[in-house]
Amino acid sequence: MADRILVLDCGTTSTRAMIFASDGTMEAVAQSELTQHYPKPGWVEHDAAEIWNKTLSCARDVMGSRTGGIAAIGITNQRETVVAWDRSSGEPLARAIVWQDRRTSEFCSGMKDYGHEPEVQRRTGLLLDPYFSGTKMRWMLDQDDAVRAAAANGTLAFGTVESWLVYKLSGGAHLTDASNASRTLLLALDGAQFDDDLCELFGVPRTALPEVVDTHGSLAACDPQWLGMAVPICGLAGDQQSATIGQGCLSFGDTKATYGTGAFVLTNKGREIPRSDHRLLGTVLFQEGGQRTYAIEGACFVAGSLIQYLRDQLGLIGSAAETENLARSIEDSGEVVIVPALAGLGAPHWKPDARGVISGLSFASGKAQIARAALEAMAHQTHDLAEAFAADGAPWSRLRIDGGMSANDWMAQDLADILDIEVERPDFVETTALGAAILAAVGCGMHGSLDIAVRAMRSATKTFTPSMGSDQRDIRLARYAKAVAVA
Ligand code: G3P
Repeated sequence: MADRILVLDCGTTSTRAMIFASDGTMEAVAQSELTQHYPKPGWVEHDAAEIWNKTLSCARDVMGSRTGGIAAIGITNQRETVVAWDRSSGEPLARAIVWQDRRTSEFCSGMKDYGHEPEVQRRTGLLLDPYFSGTKMRWMLDQDDAVRAAAANGTLAFGTVESWLVYKLSGGAHLTDASNASRTLLLALDGAQFDDDLCELFGVPRTALPEVVDTHGSLAACDPQWLGMAVPICGLAGDQQSATIGQGCLSFGDTKATYGTGAFVLTNKGREIPRSDHRLLGTVLFQEGGQRTYAIEGACFVAGSLIQYLRDQLGLIGSAAETENLARSIEDSGEVVIVPALAGLGAPHWKPDARGVISGLSFASGKAQIARAALEAMAHQTHDLAEAFAADGAPWSRLRIDGGMSANDWMAQDLADILDIEVERPDFVETTALGAAILAAVGCGMHGSLDIAVRAMRSATKTFTPSMGSDQRDIRLARYAKAVAVA
């Protein structure tokens, strides 16, 4: 009996495949790191062939010797990253430009100077920042001969990572789901397909773009050559939207924060198209039967990647898990403050050229103080978002957290303390993958609706209750505000 879901979760630092049962239990997982290419400061690239090969190999590993039993595939992915490939060969034309890449910063400033931002924000919910896919596509067309040549002869295909994986798995279906499409600058939040005027504004040929489809349903079929059986692809969503669903944020106002490579907070806004006056983003949360549910989003570009930086570049810690004991080993950070602007600052500041800051160093500042300041930075940047959400009329009464970093109890408690609200963490923190499993389970009919699937598949939770005095909180926030101002 086909009663399992295969999830492909292709993130920024690694790609994974997992098998889920219909009650949300994860039964198997395989993971492979993705090579990060940094050809110039501020540039970040992936090899799209590597993304495909490693994802396929993880899927094969996790499937083992199964010859059946998989009802559907759900795919979730790092968003905004752009892949360009040739439809005739099915091969990539250039390295994928990753969401963190800042190379189109000047192009975005130029468009702002021309006064395009208010209209772009009104239509797409996004801002003119290099983060989003549209200007990355434009850069490839301007700078890469192979991409330009393919555009000229009509064989160019652009897509975000889920689109690339569906193309490879299905042997030629070129589609994207509405949640990923809403991160490109080329989709109007109220438009069913990519928008001709926006495509013209960004200089991206409409014909190179995929068809926009629902986040769940019978979306495409995986060619039996890859997994030894024909399996329908029934769920597709950007990883942050997927985590929001995995957290069960299906009601208006429900909010989650995922601490992965970056930190992303989404609040469910129901059928209402979100409008922000405080530099937050409007985005599609999911789409069923062509009808959209939206979210308002705050995106911080650096979260877990800061800890990785302390480990891999500075050699300060041996493992991410060490930070918890280091933070607990001291009373406070000794005035050390970190602003994790290593890839510019996202919401609500949007300063693509900002750079990281470590302030307040003294001879007493050792690795414990720096590790603690790095963890404290997560609560500080989340607090910046909380203020912007509240000012936009979407205050949080409670925050559901997830992602690899949220397993750190010290950080979870610090979040509750600094935000001064209850923070809830599911026992199973891989909510991104769970969200894709939920979407695919609904898409293939295993569960009757998202509500039913969430009830059946979501794990128990643990709550962290605020206990910090307001004086201490105010001191922390004032120090952070001072440090952010110079980033
Ligand atoms: O928007 C970028 C986001 O999708 C990346 O997610 O999980 O790689 O931090 P992650």
